[in-house]
Amino acid sequence: MKRLGILLSGRGSNFLAIAKSIREGRLPNAEIAIVIANVADAPGLKAAQDLGLPTAVFVSKGRKRAEHDADVAACLREHGVDLVILAGYMRLLSPEFIAAFPNRILNIHPSLLPAFPGLDAQQQAFDYGCKVAGCTVHFVDEHLDHGVIVLQRSIAVLETDDAHSLSNRILAEEHVAYSEAIARVLSGEYRIEGRRYLRISEAAPTPVK
Ligand code: GAR
Repeated sequence: MKRLGILLSGRGSNFLAIAKSIREGRLPNAEIAIVIANVADAPGLKAAQDLGLPTAVFVSKGRKRAEHDADVAACLREHGVDLVILAGYMRLLSPEFIAAFPNRILNIHPSLLPAFPGLDAQQQAFDYGCKVAGCTVHFVDEHLDHGVIVLQRSIAVLETDDAHSLSNRILAEEHVAYSEAIARVLSGEYRIEGRRYLRISEAAPTPVK
């Protein structure tokens, strides 16, 4: 069994979609070891408590990043976490934290990266007049919304959309994408070449001499 550590700051709908995937057998070798929030009244934290999952809060406001992250990393280690899942965790991670979990931190972002990193990605895509939008699950590196991409899901931007309806339809894709990406990463059947994530079954065979 692989143990997931979920970090969240708010609503927690991506976390709940992952918990549902586990319950419904779509992530058969995964369990949620701990849900950690950096905001005391994050609705996602309450939802985790209601599900009877282990939870912890480390309020980040006003604390030095490295000190806060050291507490979070210690908690993840105590709970034997194999893979760290950022699910609407709206705080940059310190380089020390990232180095402590090399290629073991995933993030979801509501745009087709590298377009529109940062805040309000859906609004940015809408205002730019994009005809296609979507979401990206990627490994976390030391730059914002930047690491190696595991998978993306795209949708058409409709002429009837506003930023709100577009966000809702992207969120529905996020809920599918995150569990799919976690399953792929937990399978271990991939390799990383430069910025490219390659599934071993899809990777080009090594030429025979
Ligand atoms: C999601 O749309 C997620 O992609 C986004 O925050 C939202 C969290 O929703 N994350 C980022 O923008 C990270 N850069 P949720 O709390 O309902 O999962």
